Amino acid sequence: MKLAVIHGPNLNFTGIRQTDIYGEASFADMCKHIEKTANDAEIVQFQSNHEGDIIDFIQKCHHENFDGILLNAGAYTHYSHAIGDAVASVGIPVVEVHLSNVHAREDFRRKSVIAPHCVGVISGFGVYSYTMAINFLIQNRRK
Ligand code: DQA
Repeated sequence: MKLAVIHGPNLNFTGIRQTDIYGEASFADMCKHIEKTANDAEIVQFQSNHEGDIIDFIQKCHHENFDGILLNAGAYTHYSHAIGDAVASVGIPVVEVHLSNVHAREDFRRKSVIAPHCVGVISGFGVYSYTMAINFLIQNRRK
């Protein structure tokens, strides 16, 4: 089973930026933790601060027959219809994940233009948002 984890803009600054919101763990530690939870699944992690690169990577997941995608699109979540269209295009189950509870923050973060194209959204559990999403995708693997 092959799962992709996409870390969008500024996620590479996890552990540096707003640690009261996003936690003290560094981005590298977060990636290691995600890798460890994967058990037998193969995990490919990708980080980009650029919208088009994220779309290219989502399309690559389609061509390479990935079984699932975890997507934290950062602030693009709230306005990138282009990333939403890419998610809708690929026919791969995508779980939207967030470190913080986006519903407990500013109003603009309550809206996701990507979530309507996802199987679900997990928000507010720090790195455990990713763990839960991985467990879901492993246990609900499509035939
Ligand atoms: C985030 C929430 C977004 O609103 C924000 O722009 C981020 C991180 C999260 O993981 O909590 O960059 O996606």
